Amino acid sequence: MGAGIAESAALHGFEVVLRSRSQGTADSMAAGLEKSLGKQVDKGKLTQEERDAALGRLSTVTDLGALAECDLVIESVVEELGVKKHLFSELDRICHEQTILATNTSTLPVVEMAMETGRPERVCGIHFFNPAPVMSLVEIVRPITASEETVSSARAFAEACDKQPVEVKDQAGFIVNALLFPYLNNAVRLLESGVASRDDIDTAMKGGCGFPMGPFALLDLVGLDTSVAILDALYEEYKDPHFSTVPLLRRMVSAELLGRKSGKGFYDYHR
Ligand SMILES: NC(=O)c1ccc[n+]([C@@H]2O[C@H](COP(=O)([O-])OP(=O)(O)OC[C@H]3O[C@@H](n4cnc5c(N)ncnc54)[C@H](O)[C@@H]3O)[C@@H](O)[C@H]2O)c1
Repeated sequence: MGAGIAESAALHGFEVVLRSRSQGTADSMAAGLEKSLGKQVDKGKLTQEERDAALGRLSTVTDLGALAECDLVIESVVEELGVKKHLFSELDRICHEQTILATNTSTLPVVEMAMETGRPERVCGIHFFNPAPVMSLVEIVRPITASEETVSSARAFAEACDKQPVEVKDQAGFIVNALLFPYLNNAVRLLESGVASRDDIDTAMKGGCGFPMGPFALLDLVGLDTSVAILDALYEEYKDPHFSTVPLLRRMVSAELLGRKSGKGFYDYHR
């Protein structure tokens, strides 16, 4: 997700510093981004000059300190509250006092990240969808601590990236995942209980509901580990059985069947 957000911002004129813990990962993210821009040139959606200009606005770093002068920092690390809280306290120490600190979390309480900082009024959620350069929606998540100015700056940023922002309170799942994940979880439940096959469930939801992809293809795209983290956060918040992760999903994560990112999930992506 981090590379996709960086691509969207660089393409729309922002100077982007892409930070990863290792230079190897940062370089492979930049290579993926370059490939994605190249495909858009091939399809005629972008000129070679626009591609070159976007790449010229991007730099990769490993040092968190390189983010000190950024006006906006969007974290997109693993969906674990402890990891994100630690990162927010580090960013608060490093970044200049006007920097807005945002999270791309899918479900976690933004207020808990905000309270790790000395600037809770300048913390909000800016939630992109996967793949970020393609999907038009961005959820602007407003924790009770955020100032009006922070929320309107986040909205302006999303609009400048040519996205459609919607505003939502800081409640697990926000709008999209609160509605989407009971459906995805129930699809796994149907499969687990042998009601229908993987292919027939995906075919049914595409043909019967007009969805661009079925639930298993979508779970593979999101990542099964991220999906379990999202369901766990939803269950923690609402204690609703629809959010209680189906055992098969958890077992697949234990077996490192994570979807596209590991090469195998409900489908096989090995060539
Ligand atoms: N996958 C999706 O469809 C999707 C969509 C919207 C938002 N998100 C959100 O984006 C964020 C990232 O999701 P993703 O799917 O890109 O996950 P991912 O597993 O592909 O990537 C997570 C990144 O976090 C890094 N990381 C892991 N542990 C870390 C640590 N201790 N400190 C710093 N970095 C660490 C990993 O190296 C990796 O680069 C999550 O908050 C997720 O909820 C995901």
